[in-house]
Formats: sequence, C-alpha cells, structure tokens
Amino acid sequence: MTARHVVRGRLLSFENGPDRPWYVEDGFLLIEDGVIAARGDLVDMPAADVPVTRYDGDLVMAGLIDTHIHYPQTQVIASYGAQLLDWLQRYTFVEEQRFADPAHAAAVAGFFLEELFRNGTTTAAVYCTVHANSVDAFFEASSARNSRMIAGKVMMDRGAPDGLLDTAERGHRESAAAIARWHGRGRQRYAVTPRFAPTSSEPQLEAAGDLLRAYPDCYLQTHLSENRDEIRAVAGLFPWSANYTQVYERFGLLGPRSIFGHCIHLSAAERRLLAESGSIAAFCPTSNLFIGSGLFDRRAMMDAGVTVSLATDVGGGTSYSMLRTAAEAYKILQLQGQNLPSFDAFHMMTAGNALALGLQDEIGTLEVGTAADLTVLRVGATAAMAHRMARVENLEQELFVLMTMGDDRAVRATWVAGVPVYTAEPQPQASA
Ligand code: GUN
Ligand code: ZN
Repeated sequence: MTARHVVRGRLLSFENGPDRPWYVEDGFLLIEDGVIAARGDLVDMPAADVPVTRYDGDLVMAGLIDTHIHYPQTQVIASYGAQLLDWLQRYTFVEEQRFADPAHAAAVAGFFLEELFRNGTTTAAVYCTVHANSVDAFFEASSARNSRMIAGKVMMDRGAPDGLLDTAERGHRESAAAIARWHGRGRQRYAVTPRFAPTSSEPQLEAAGDLLRAYPDCYLQTHLSENRDEIRAVAGLFPWSANYTQVYERFGLLGPRSIFGHCIHLSAAERRLLAESGSIAAFCPTSNLFIGSGLFDRRAMMDAGVTVSLATDVGGGTSYSMLRTAAEAYKILQLQGQNLPSFDAFHMMTAGNALALGLQDEIGTLEVGTAADLTVLRVGATAAMAHRMARVENLEQELFVLMTMGDDRAVRATWVAGVPVYTAEPQPQASA
C-alpha cells in the first residue's frame, strides 16, 4: 500500500540558486512513500482522499543540512576558556574516551539525532570517535530513523591519550569494515575521517588515501587551518610540505567529496588547491568565534572558486541550530566588510549544502522526486520575532529576521522521508 500524505503551508525552495527562490504562498506538497510526488498552489491540488497536515502561515522548506558536526561532543559544547589544542586535550579527548562504551555511544547517538531534528536539521556530516562501536551506534540510530546521514570513524594514531589512538593498520581495517557494513545501506553514507594532520602519522594519512581510492564514492572529512598553533604544529610534523593543505593533497585526500572544516588561515596557493580539486570548505561560524579561531574569508574563497558549505561544528560550535549558525556567519562576514544576504544563507542551509555534498537529487529542495525531508519554520516564533515581523515588507527581509532572531523555537516540525519526526507544541491540526 502506498503511504500518501499532503502537507500544506508556505513553500520555499532554493533549487534555482540563491537569487531565485521557488515560493508558493498557499501551497501543497503531495508525499508518496517518503518522496515528494507533486507540489504547487493549493488551488491546483488534485482532489484525493489523503490525510492533510496544515502548517498555515509557516514556511515549509527542505530539511536543513549541517556539513560538519561531532556527535560525541554533545557534552563538550560550552566548555570554558581554551583555544583549539588545549580545548582538545582538556575537554574533547577526555569526553571522547567514554565512547569505548557501546551503551554510552548508543544513548548519545539517539540524543544527538533527536536534537538535530528539534533544530530542523535532517542531514549532517558527522564525526564519530576512534572507537569502531561509535560508528555502529551512530548508524544504527540513524537507520532506525531513516535519516540521510554521512559519518565515519575518526582515525587518529598520535597526539592524544592512548585510549583514543588506533594505528595506521587498525584505522584502515576498522574503516573498511564500517564502509562494508554501512556505506549505501539505506540512507547511510560513509566518510573516511582522519581527525586532522596533527593526530595522524604519515602512514595513517596514506591509509586514508588508500581507502578513498578503494571506495571512491565515500566522502572524506577532516579539519584544515583552524588555528595558528595548529598550523605551526603541522609545519613541524610535515617539514617537507609548503603548507597545511599540501599535506592532505600529498596523500590524495582532496576532491569533490572531501569536506574540510574551518579553512580560516589559508594562503592563496592553498585556496587554489582546494578550488582545483573541487574540495569543500565548511564554514563553522559559532565554533570559530567560540574557540577564538579566526574569521572565515568567504569572499576570498568564492573568488578563488572554492565550494563553501555551512556547518555548526558542535561541540566547538555553540548551537545545533543552522539558523543561529547563519546569524553568526553574517556577523563574521560583517567584521570583514562582507555580507550574507538572507537568500544566500537559506540557500546554503538547504540546496547549497546539498549541492556541496553532491546530494542535490535527493535532498535540499522541494523538487518533485526528492525525499520529503522537511523543516517547517514559524516566522513569528517568539513575541519579539512576531513584533519585528510586523515591519517586514518582503520575503528577503522576513528570512533575514528569521535567521537573525530564530533558533530551535522557530522549528514547528521536522519530517524525515515523509514521516514527522519532531513536532513542537501546539500540534498542527490534522484532518482527513
Ligand atoms: N580539530 C581537530 N579535532 C577537532 C575537533 O574536534 N573540533 C574542532 N573544532 N577542531 C578540531
Ligand atoms: Zn570539527
């Protein structure tokens, strides 16, 4: 039997890029078996005996996409007073050791996914820990929810407590086993995940490159050029390399499925390497401010032709909300005399991030044939937002207020593959 459902609301989709949003003021989506089967103006809705969920006045958009986040850091977020290398040693490496315990990993994975849904995020590129069981825990939790997730076992064989270290051989073996088990199973996809150059030996980076060559449709995710002391450490560990990016290039880790978190302090030559390889730079504004890392230069990256995505980087980042993330992105760009129009921001959170991940045929828009992964946003979620909204004159302004003032309180509902996985109070009215 076909599962059919109609969702009504204000439909907004950035399938035509940031400048020409597809928008229907009073629209419908017909969902069949988890996929958008038809869409349009309510007056054109085919008559059918299908349950309808009404989100009158709310924006129905594609589910938000977060291109860099750490699920084992839900109890690291908001750790005081340290910059990157100290923050890792003092807080992160302590907490991540708990994930040797499968029960802990399973409990946190469930919490994490529910928290993403509460924030309207339906897809993320996720770091697990070095423990193979942390990957199973995450993908089991995501599979149970049928969510489109990308994740991988962190590979790290130096520069951390013994309990967090694998070896080049073990990192390769356990990653290959996780790929065989999870990559392409349902909606799950694997990312080869060497944490960053300071915690991987050359043989381990070589092993990561071998994995990518053996499994070319897997992703790669790592960190790049976040913090000045980190960059100095990389220069000391890889003295043969002209710069940080070239370390990853040397081991075959650049490419259109490679996501590099942060990319703050890059030279023009490094930006060229990223652009020529089609690599993705994940802009993580709340993290960059909170850890005191620096200001991401979006204009220089775009001028160089680098693909830029947007990400929370929880627990270095301070919010699971992509709306909050966009608000901080705007401020970081303001500090550099740059801007982030609201259409660009909402495009990045949806179609832009989907395009960066090569998943535009499945997620990121409301186009017919794509998955019914949806977020429903309440533009007047708080009294202060409703009060401010009374002065907005067009959609662009409305979205700017939404991204500047909005957070999880603005998420009315989240759907994954045609199923509501989160609904805020008050419940929407369902009628036959
Ligand atoms: N660099 C290496 N590991 C990490 C991490 O967990 N968070 C951040 N923000 N940067 C990193
Ligand atoms: Zn990170």
